[in-house]
Amino acid sequence: AEITNRNGKEKVAAEIAAKVKDGDVLGVGSGSTSYLALLAIAERVKKEKLNIRAIPTSLEISMFCSKWGIPLTTLFEHKPNWLFDGADEVDPNKSLIKGRGGAMFKEKLLMSCSPINYIIVDESKIVDKLGTNFPVPIEVFPQALLHVEEELKKIGANEIVLRPAKGKDGPCITENGNLILDCRFNNMHSHFEKDIKAITGVIESGLFMGYNLEVLVAANN
Ligand code: A5P
Repeated sequence: AEITNRNGKEKVAAEIAAKVKDGDVLGVGSGSTSYLALLAIAERVKKEKLNIRAIPTSLEISMFCSKWGIPLTTLFEHKPNWLFDGADEVDPNKSLIKGRGGAMFKEKLLMSCSPINYIIVDESKIVDKLGTNFPVPIEVFPQALLHVEEELKKIGANEIVLRPAKGKDGPCITENGNLILDCRFNNMHSHFEKDIKAITGVIESGLFMGYNLEVLVAANN
């Protein structure tokens, strides 16, 4: 992803890198802020010869882990001790919209397995109300597309866009082989994450409500 507000993001990246302890299994989020945090961690690992392992949330970030010498593991072998990840929007209840990069299923799976979660963002991500700048991305099993669209309209979707691919024709295909619907809703109450998930054919959404997480915010500069 393109890196905007690099200075601000490097500050939270350094805060994250300072939390790493020898032996940690880390969940590693996706996006430009997570990328910078991973870079700062890789420098510490190299300098201090730390033994850590990473469970990545996307192909992109797993390639960076490999490039910078951080060994990978999976949820078959380990649970993360803690994780860090970015977000597209954060509201006053610490509810999130994630998934601009399309990795929200793995991101949510890791957060569900991880006892400690740090969300790293710059000020541009802080909103009064979710949906201000970003739609809610919903990962959908391809054959379920029309059914899911119909059901989403019933729960208040007023805009549904099939995410297009970049650099190729046709729709965006996730790392799990599914499609993404970017949706805007009339009203998202506190159970809305569960309402979306209850539709058969929905793999997961980028709406994160009520997770145990700490938000680290970098000032814009
Ligand atoms: C990836 O699927 C998203 O959930 C990212 O965590 C999010 O887009 C954050 O990216 P930036 O740190 O680049 O804003």
